[in-house]
Amino acid sequence: MTLQDLTVGPEAVTLHWTDGAQCAIPPIWLRDSDPAGFHPATGERVLDLLALPDVPEIAEARVEDGGARLTWRDGHVSRFSGAWFARHRPGRPLPDPAAVAPAVWGGNGPAGGVPRHQAGAILSDDAALAAWLHDLCATGLTIVEGVGVDADPDAGIAIAEHVGFLRETNFGRVFEVFSKPEPNNLAYTSDALPLHTDLANQEVPPGYQFLHCLANEVRGGGSVFADGYGIAEDLRAADPAAFALLSGVAIPFRFHDREVDIRVHRPVIGVAPDGGLTEIRYNAHLADIFDMPPEGLAAYYRAYRAFMAGTRRADRQLTLKLRAGEMAVFDNRRVLHGREAFDPATGKRHLRGCYVDRGEVDSRLRRLAVRG
Ligand code: OGA
Ligand code: ZN
Repeated sequence: MTLQDLTVGPEAVTLHWTDGAQCAIPPIWLRDSDPAGFHPATGERVLDLLALPDVPEIAEARVEDGGARLTWRDGHVSRFSGAWFARHRPGRPLPDPAAVAPAVWGGNGPAGGVPRHQAGAILSDDAALAAWLHDLCATGLTIVEGVGVDADPDAGIAIAEHVGFLRETNFGRVFEVFSKPEPNNLAYTSDALPLHTDLANQEVPPGYQFLHCLANEVRGGGSVFADGYGIAEDLRAADPAAFALLSGVAIPFRFHDREVDIRVHRPVIGVAPDGGLTEIRYNAHLADIFDMPPEGLAAYYRAYRAFMAGTRRADRQLTLKLRAGEMAVFDNRRVLHGREAFDPATGKRHLRGCYVDRGEVDSRLRRLAVRG
């Protein structure tokens, strides 16, 4: 759709489109958005907005090739092509291949089952990579199969690195999950791990978690997952006051050992200005002692326990047992994960994990869409 006509008023330029729509835009938007104000090589904005008057004056305006040619009072000429206007119109955000709507799921898992994808295809075929990442963004949980079939313990990490930069944390660039002496984390015991998100004590917890199963021969040791967005939406519907507290009150999270002391205050449920969910930050082991004003404690405990009870509901939990060569990949800021206890005397259990932040995954999806 291109520009048909434009009329210049004292405070606004009215653009008339060939589809009959029209919109009135302040001239400063046109001057600020002028393609000439962006570096030709880097594409970054270089215009200093404060170098412009509040209301830049247009001396002459006309339609040119479905776009606009504007001559400003200071002599500068701005040219906007029809194609440019097709992409940039106030009120219409740029289409984003990474803006995948979450498909919320319950205890039976995502419709059609947990999406399963093949490691070989992901590494060799960009269409397969894009299909996997798309599923990952929609459901927040996928299984990659055939990881390290040649017994390469770093094959899961290689897949994560094929997506983007790893997110390093105080547990390292890559972490091992097996029972070990003197654990600094319950993950390194053989105990059950209730549903949680990792590193809730970080300012921004890691986005996607990659858990590559190298061995799981033990009795027990199943993996449990729940869509935190589902638990939050249950609460929003059943108990809006509890939802308001969990999304509005920042609680303390803390991890400390001999090396680090990493703390943050944040709400359990992250909500966007439009009401959509942005994240779940829930880890009963990393929640520090609640420190809100005492008059708020009783109501907060009621709300927090309601969310906690939601994580225990069978109709929210999905259990599966990872086999060697499988890798669970999930959105750690949405999908809660845990594990059943296991008996270390019955065999080996070893997972190797790493994280890749959401922004890396989103960027990869966008670049794949350009090529696709
Ligand atoms: C963890 C964890 C899951 C498992 O290390 O944080 O959740 O299956 N591990 O051991
Ligand atoms: Zn974990």
